[in-house]
Amino acid sequence: MRHLLDTRTLTREAAVRILDTAEEMADTQHREVRKLPALRGKTVVNLFYEDSTRTRISFEAAAKRLSADVINFSAKGSSVSKGESLKDTAQTLQAIGADGVVIRHPASGAPDRLARSGWIDAGVLNAGDGTHEHPTQALLDAFTMRRRIFGAQASRGRDLDGVSVVIVGDLAHSRVARSNLWLLTALGARVAFVGPETLQPYGAREWPATVRHSLDEALREDAPDVVMLLRIQSERMHAAYFPNEREYARNWGLDDARLAALPERTIIMHPGPMNRGLEISSAAADSERSTVLEQVANGVSVRMAALYLLLSGERGDPRDRLPGEA
Ligand code: CP
Repeated sequence: MRHLLDTRTLTREAAVRILDTAEEMADTQHREVRKLPALRGKTVVNLFYEDSTRTRISFEAAAKRLSADVINFSAKGSSVSKGESLKDTAQTLQAIGADGVVIRHPASGAPDRLARSGWIDAGVLNAGDGTHEHPTQALLDAFTMRRRIFGAQASRGRDLDGVSVVIVGDLAHSRVARSNLWLLTALGARVAFVGPETLQPYGAREWPATVRHSLDEALREDAPDVVMLLRIQSERMHAAYFPNEREYARNWGLDDARLAALPERTIIMHPGPMNRGLEISSAAADSERSTVLEQVANGVSVRMAALYLLLSGERGDPRDRLPGEA
């Protein structure tokens, strides 16, 4: 694997391999020496054209725990504001010797362009592009589901065959929903997309997901093991298409009444940042069945795995020779 651009092209085997490598990485983080030498001498650039808290800091933490040098680049405050192009920015990164570029960009397809451009030799990791994909988010979500459903020890080598996942909310703008759809279906899960008609992505009925408009119907009919709430992306929203906030919370929010009616096994996920009181109540976000903070913690292990598999130059099963292991 040279780049990680999407989950649509990931096979079940490749996805399970990344998740299993993340389990190995998570194991190393419980040891006294948390830093592994795997990427010593490598340089990872976090190239962020859009704001981020979780993704940026967890890629930074992941790269540092693998001993890479990390350069954080934010478009705000850089020469991008003077009109510098993606090509010239990329070639600047090439000149300073970047081995890996983690890119978040508002334009769908920007990471793919960077990877195929020939402007840089570095491995490219998509940290979220427009409404297209956010592959490491989906991988950390799948990792979290596997752990919650099977337990950490029993997770290795497993997929999510038969697991029912209901993804609720602003699907039209959600790269998280798309990446989860492709990854979860490759892993054998059943996916339902739930939200107002105006926030369904164009063409969703052709995709391998059940499409519903009633959350209550989905919670009844799909018997979900996982309910994943998505952030209402007000910054990308055309006001005319959006049900007002009160309407949204009443019909599609995971409020306290819906929380109380969920089956005991059902877990609640949200990629963050959350709009509390809109798509998710505080009681749901803070409940024991919520995995919101586990998702953040697991993101570091999953991003360590992705960086390791792309940049270490190792071949074969990395579990055979994790750095620092006999
Ligand atoms: N989930 C996610 O991508 O969050 P950030 O925008 O904070 O990175």
